[in-house]
Amino acid sequence: MPANAPGHGSLNMKTATTIASMRAWPRNIAHPVVLVPTMGALHEGHAALIRTARKMAGRHGAVVVSIFVNPIQFGPKEDLASYPRPFRRDLAVCRHAGADAVFAPAAGEMYCADRSVFTDESSLSQALCGRSRPGHFRGVCTVVAKLFLIVQPTHALFGEKDWQQLAILRRMVRDLNFPVDVVGHPTVREADGLALSSRNAYLTPQERALAPGIHAALSAASRLKSPGAIVKAATRGISSISGARIDYIEAVDAETLEPLLQRRRPGRLAAAIFLGRARLIDNVPLPAIT
Ligand code: PAJ
Repeated sequence: MPANAPGHGSLNMKTATTIASMRAWPRNIAHPVVLVPTMGALHEGHAALIRTARKMAGRHGAVVVSIFVNPIQFGPKEDLASYPRPFRRDLAVCRHAGADAVFAPAAGEMYCADRSVFTDESSLSQALCGRSRPGHFRGVCTVVAKLFLIVQPTHALFGEKDWQQLAILRRMVRDLNFPVDVVGHPTVREADGLALSSRNAYLTPQERALAPGIHAALSAASRLKSPGAIVKAATRGISSISGARIDYIEAVDAETLEPLLQRRRPGRLAAAIFLGRARLIDNVPLPAIT
């Protein structure tokens, strides 16, 4: 087997920075190619996705991690310029978690200055984060569609922490017939319940100490029965966190993201909360009550 080929092991991990070299990377088409798209600044949540991808790919399949801070999914007032980019550390995380290849293009490699074609999901993107981040999911769908066409994975892994993103990408794959299985991965949390996120780095020590209150309030509220009571209880709990500002707290259908009126189908209790400089998102399941 040539060095850098899939399944060869992470010691020979390939790093591709051009689309041509990623496409030319040899892979065994009889085995899974599992893609883990990321924006870098990798933490234990990302590492868990890569380790799961390694298990899915097996010894002969391939695990590809993409590291790309996608400019078109950031709003004009968002943190594109300050988004952390610890590239060498990220490569070490990928290697240790079992990646065979990393695709890390520069923005100019991914986007032509006069680009004019985008991938836009027009229904689920209007809900939740879509309201305060216009254009965000168009940026996400466009970059993930491009990554699918460049890497040509059989499977792609996304975290449930970004539930809306996962639901939208499942819809994109369904509606555009991408030959890719989208697989969700449970949210990885700190011991105190805070969902791991690159943006947790923006929290001061005081804010960090308060941040687990978000998940605590969501999970306590999720034990109630009616969606209305659940949202009320979560709002009360999160409002009591000093300095927390609620962007939204909503109970939605897990698949369509429409407001959850009854517990007949699986739902999700989702929240976006500003705490200091950070905008934190989290969600918990609301199983159907039969
Ligand atoms: P990023 O925020 O870097 O996240 C990359 C992947 O890691 C996403 O699928 C995200 O849901 C998952 N992830 C992040 N924190 C997690 C946690 N605590 N537990 C489980 N999974 C977690 O999401 C993006 O990048 C981008 O929008 C991307 C899909 C790469 C497109 O640019």
